[in-house]
Amino acid sequence: MSFRYQQLAAELQQQIEQGQYGCGERLPGVRELAKRRALSVSTVVASYRRLEADGYLQANSRSGYFVKPRYQPPPLSSVPLQQAAEPVIVCSQQIALSLSKAAADPAYMRLGAAVPAAVYLPQHALQKALQQVIKTEPARLMRYEASRGAVELRREIARRMALHGAVVSQDDVIITNGCQEALMLSLKAVTQPGDVVVIESPAFYGLLQALEAAGLKALALPTDAQTGMAPDVLQQALEQWPVKACVLIANYSNPLGSLIPDGNKKRIVQLLAQRGIPLIEDDTYGDLGFTGPRPGSCLALAPQQDIFYCSTFSKTLSPDLRLGWVIAPKHTAKIEYLKFISNISTAALPQLAVAKLLQSGQYERHLRQVRPQYEAAVQRISGSIGRLFPPGTRVSQPQGGFVLWVELPQDVDGYELAQQALAEKISIAPGTIFSPTAPAGSAGYRNFIRLNCAVAQDARLERALQTLAQLCQQQLNR
Ligand SMILES: Cc1ncc(COP(=O)(O)O)c(C=O)c1O
Repeated sequence: MSFRYQQLAAELQQQIEQGQYGCGERLPGVRELAKRRALSVSTVVASYRRLEADGYLQANSRSGYFVKPRYQPPPLSSVPLQQAAEPVIVCSQQIALSLSKAAADPAYMRLGAAVPAAVYLPQHALQKALQQVIKTEPARLMRYEASRGAVELRREIARRMALHGAVVSQDDVIITNGCQEALMLSLKAVTQPGDVVVIESPAFYGLLQALEAAGLKALALPTDAQTGMAPDVLQQALEQWPVKACVLIANYSNPLGSLIPDGNKKRIVQLLAQRGIPLIEDDTYGDLGFTGPRPGSCLALAPQQDIFYCSTFSKTLSPDLRLGWVIAPKHTAKIEYLKFISNISTAALPQLAVAKLLQSGQYERHLRQVRPQYEAAVQRISGSIGRLFPPGTRVSQPQGGFVLWVELPQDVDGYELAQQALAEKISIAPGTIFSPTAPAGSAGYRNFIRLNCAVAQDARLERALQTLAQLCQQQLNR
């Protein structure tokens, strides 16, 4: 049983963590709060002192208690951007399946898979749109949808893409079962088993799975935590290896959160175009920047080039919609055929519902609401890592999206940590699965983990982070 001052402290802590009291803001005066909450002054003072001791507040003897600037852990050490080693066959991404299972199990604190908790998704609007479609389009839901996808959704996507600088025909938009299928179809369209594909390192593990499934070799290029793939590094790789395609996440990559500046995007596209190499652009997080206008896509910057633009509604509306798309004007017929022979088409119900959300403006409204929420969640977890994790821990500074890439002290094994955490009902993504040769024990990103920040910002999260920090410390004490 906790005391009243502890309960009040926990409540206030939650409010601070959720951003209701921002950094530097003054909390209500002691007497005022005591009166409002029908508590004694000494109870309020005790809870403020508790929060002061925990590093949340600082007292100013004359004017009250203020939210302390949050401690941010140091940024990642910069990776030397030299030439990648050599292309490798991608293997053993099975551990990603256990992450995916934990992501579906509410018993776990789900910091592993990059899946937003329901509180970040427009549940009500989505339910309403789905119900409307069931009511108004019953016949449409009783047959196969076209392999390209529902024209209503393709039109809305084409309109929205044009608003962000990529003028495409709705006939070139092909709806897929999420971005994962968009990536797979794109790879299939331009590669044969054994071909070399340039990717970023660390790499999103779903892409590694796609490469594994297609029997492709990954040439993983060291990537800058802030500015993503470096054109010079790419150029060296292209001069040395017979590259058949390049896949990159230009806007808010997973796991680094890096954003490739427009000038570098143009140079990358140019380098590839000079050699006739297609670019597969994964823009999954492009809509989720924390500030400023939406960054341009490579497709918008170089519409004439050979680009497969892939994206999804998984991170903005719901992953369970299984709704993504690919636009590659030079390959539309081929992708449509590949889609048809792999699973005929994507279900009409989610497509028509999402078309309604786009048309009504609800999608944009939701984005406006959720971007600052993701930013606050990322900042908050980053601050907690700084406060709780052992010295030597470094954290990425993403400019969008909702994942953090965490470099632990050298002697902490992220894979072992992930196993230990699972036993505590916490799932995290070990760094090794972001490397093409990834399984347990592999050297690549051994002391790294990735955390999904799009989880409820509550006391359970704080406890999970404390547990992770303790497990790290235990490894260091051995
Ligand atoms: C960068 C990136 N691409 C693609 C995907 C797959 O998305 P979808 O659920 O739409 O298949 C994800 C999901 O985590 C992702 O982070």
